[in-house]
Amino acid sequence: MCIHLSKNPGRVLTNSRDECRRAKPACTHAYLFALTVCLLGVGCFQDSTAQHSAFLPLNYQSTFQTVRTCRLVVPHSNQYQLVFANAIAADQYTAGIYPLPAGSVVVAEQHGNDASCNNLLGYYLMAKENPGYDTAAGDWHWQELDVNQRISQDGHLTTCSSCHAKPPCSDFLCSPP
Ligand code: HEC
Repeated sequence: MCIHLSKNPGRVLTNSRDECRRAKPACTHAYLFALTVCLLGVGCFQDSTAQHSAFLPLNYQSTFQTVRTCRLVVPHSNQYQLVFANAIAADQYTAGIYPLPAGSVVVAEQHGNDASCNNLLGYYLMAKENPGYDTAAGDWHWQELDVNQRISQDGHLTTCSSCHAKPPCSDFLCSPP
């Protein structure tokens, strides 16, 4: 703490001006040390190994389109979800024209038991890769993300794809238009 309040006579002084001057280099050193640790990627995040999803831009709420209204999805742990799609996917997804082209990203915001979808808990995401990525699963790349858009499950997730393969899903997409 390095606060000098001598211009405020009614208040108790936290440090004398001299103590404050002496303390400053220590404060600066501590700050630079913390910054270095942070830049080295050691101490900034709770889990420094969890990566942000490359498929979901931070500003997706303004760059993606909302393609489904808030609805209850029983197979997704009984949670309400809101679905967004990027520009490559949005028109075809809305019209129900499958399969979607490579580069498509469809993401479901998971909102627990909040029927107004104002309680974001995390995301389920599908990104269409180039042909050959995973032919058996429609070349979809599956991800589960936490509320900070950091990846908790990634890649050829058969728990996701096996359920999304069932009728009435088409091209592994299961929300009817
Ligand atoms: C037990 C079945 C089941 C499992 C497991 C499952 N889903 Fe789904 N998912 C569904 C159904 C059914 C819907 C459509 C719900 C609706 O809108 O009516 C859906 C919707 C979605 C949507 C919205 C796009 C669409 O139309 O399908 C995304 C994105 C999604 N799931 C991703 C995932 C991911 C990622 C996983 C794995 C981490 C996963 N799902 C696991 C059944 C499942």
